[in-house]
Amino acid sequence: MQIARSIHAVRDAVAAARSAGKTIGLVPTMGALHDGHFSLIDAARAGCDYVVVSIFVNPLQFGPAEDLDAYPRREAEDLAGCEAWGVDAVFLPSAEELYPGECLTEVRVERLSRTLCGASRPGHFPGVCTVVAKLFNIVQPDRAYFGAKDFQQAAILRRMVTDLDFPVEIVVCPIVREPDGVAMSSRNAYLTPEQRRQARALHAALKEAEASVLSHRPSAREVVAAIRGFLASHAPDGAVDYVQIVDPSALSDVEQTDAAILIALAVTFGRARLIDNLLVDASRPDG
Ligand code: PAJ
Repeated sequence: MQIARSIHAVRDAVAAARSAGKTIGLVPTMGALHDGHFSLIDAARAGCDYVVVSIFVNPLQFGPAEDLDAYPRREAEDLAGCEAWGVDAVFLPSAEELYPGECLTEVRVERLSRTLCGASRPGHFPGVCTVVAKLFNIVQPDRAYFGAKDFQQAAILRRMVTDLDFPVEIVVCPIVREPDGVAMSSRNAYLTPEQRRQARALHAALKEAEASVLSHRPSAREVVAAIRGFLASHAPDGAVDYVQIVDPSALSDVEQTDAAILIALAVTFGRARLIDNLLVDASRPDG
């Protein structure tokens, strides 16, 4: 496994693989790798000949009051994990390598970046798009792999690739969960045992909502109220940032639940902001 800390080193590694006729898969991450990340690596290995994992805690996507400094950094474990998972190259740039001067250019996908997580994190998605655009230009992968846990992020990046003609296929992989339903996240490490227990309510609330949508198609307003009620009783220490029901492509709020819908929520426990979502296709007659 090659470890590249500079742009030219990763470009050289990818160029050699490409001239050997290999297709290139990229898995962008911020490290502290868990089974959610490893599932993306598995998908990349299944779909491409040469797999590059990038590990970079991107300062551009953290707001001033957010957890940039506290974000877990576990380079040695991450490298061992990548090695064990059959990764071909890890791109591990420093902030100076990726942003040697002031970065005056920003990539912003309008509208999709303002709803859901974007409403309370205004600079977040432009920061994600800018770094991912740089990674695409540096690595030039054929396919890039993202998780449905960050559904909005994947939708925004898909739109960026379409609008700006990046020659990259975006592949979105299912959410990987702990046995009790909690979506795996590097930020789960911030939770106290009691908060971790209450965090189960996020997925449980989504599953209850799915059952009610499939059984009697309540209005979106009713579903949101039921989820908020469930969270208030099962996760009293969590502060709800949003509960929204949106169209899965436009990410705009819907009123009815009789089509394919995304139910998405964000809840903060202390300094851990957790997100989760569930795609429900209520257009099926047997729903
Ligand atoms: P990070 O939070 O490290 O996540 C990297 C990728 O892993 C993302 O595509 C995310 O959706 C996916 N992922 C995380 N937890 C998952 C889970 N439980 N199941 C499935 N996939 C999961 O997302 C980022 O980093 C950054 O914004 C990045 C895209 C790297 C840009 O900086």
